[in-house]
Amino acid sequence: MIQLVARVVIIIPTFNEKDNTVRMIDTLAGILPEIRDHQVELLYVDGNSPDGTADVVRDKQKELKWLHLLVETKKEGLGMAYAKGMTHAMKELKADWLMEFDSDFQHPPQDIPRLIAEIDNGYDYILGSRYIPGGSIPSEWGFKRKFLSVVGNHVARITLLLPGIHDVTGGFKLARVKGFMDEFDFGRLLSRSFAYKIHLLHYMVQKGARVKEVPFHFAHRTAGESKIIKNEMQETLRVIFLLQLNNPKIRRFFKFAAVGGTGLVLQTLIFEILGLKLRLFSPAVATVIGGELAIVNNFLLNNFWTFSDHRVVGAKIFGKFLQFNFTSLLALGIQFVILSIGEYVAGGNEWVIRGFYFAALVIVLITNYIIYNKIIWKVKK
Ligand code: GDD
Ligand code: MN
Repeated sequence: MIQLVARVVIIIPTFNEKDNTVRMIDTLAGILPEIRDHQVELLYVDGNSPDGTADVVRDKQKELKWLHLLVETKKEGLGMAYAKGMTHAMKELKADWLMEFDSDFQHPPQDIPRLIAEIDNGYDYILGSRYIPGGSIPSEWGFKRKFLSVVGNHVARITLLLPGIHDVTGGFKLARVKGFMDEFDFGRLLSRSFAYKIHLLHYMVQKGARVKEVPFHFAHRTAGESKIIKNEMQETLRVIFLLQLNNPKIRRFFKFAAVGGTGLVLQTLIFEILGLKLRLFSPAVATVIGGELAIVNNFLLNNFWTFSDHRVVGAKIFGKFLQFNFTSLLALGIQFVILSIGEYVAGGNEWVIRGFYFAALVIVLITNYIIYNKIIWKVKK
């Protein structure tokens, strides 16, 4: 196999990191030349730090030809710094790969070669990961900080629908340019601050990037101070919300839930009007009539709206409708079993029984959604 040499540009944003920067460049000068398979260069993006971080870089540039510097007119947030740095690295430095890296030694410089080595294994997106075996967050952190980091990461993983990636908020990673970063529109970056990372990660995965997680120990910061903004959690949730607003899977789920809602209203109306007000039927019969009408309603709305891209037409519709009725019976069966257990456990406590009723509804909602996707409308992946 022919081994192609790739140009990797490590982008390090800085704001008031003078001391760290002197040490970092010296450290990297000892590590980077050891990487022989690929050509590695360094690009600092300084937010016009008042402490003179950029001067330190300029000074080192005299002896190091692989050291580049971009100075922003002012600090505009981490996302903006990376948007400028990445664009510069691709356009001016002809990067094939972009690495995101912090200047404060929280990302261990000696781990850089381990990430770069994965290029040769055919991946497109190589993530330093704190939450897989062999990775960690600082033991120095207090309980609250650890808790926020771990829980925040899980919330982001789940809401992004990316359970296969264990660290979605980390900042140490390597991305392929061709077919990926070169097609990203930085003008549409959803956040100027740290949350831009979520947007890039989501974009890479959507583009079909082959992802590799490499464990690393996220170190404790010993010099300088963190610039993470106070409402970063909200900012991250805002970005996730915007990303998922147009996610077809999420949209489908909400349509399904809305249809379920209309069915419930319909059944209740029939029960109230035919069963109680007009007394055309007994309440029990009215419930069953309403239930079946709700089933018809839900089937049609789901077929022509929620699952319109997989809709069933023609004579097949009758078979499908029968199948749909069976799933509704299954749902009733599940509710019956859960409530029987509830009655047994509750010992007459109404609130406990209500809890079981609610739990049964949630379980039925989920099983129905899965059955509709897998069995009735056969949505692939
Ligand atoms: N140019 C520029 N402009 N640089 C910035 C800015 C900015 O507005 N904000 C931060 N930086 C630089 C810092 O100087 C540092 O080199 C790097 O970006 C990371 O900033 P820190 O302030 O050290 O971030 P952190 O340690 O709190 O957060 C790190 O860990 C998080 C995961 O817990 C980062 O790697 C995050 O990206 C990551 O999500
Ligand atoms: Mn840091």
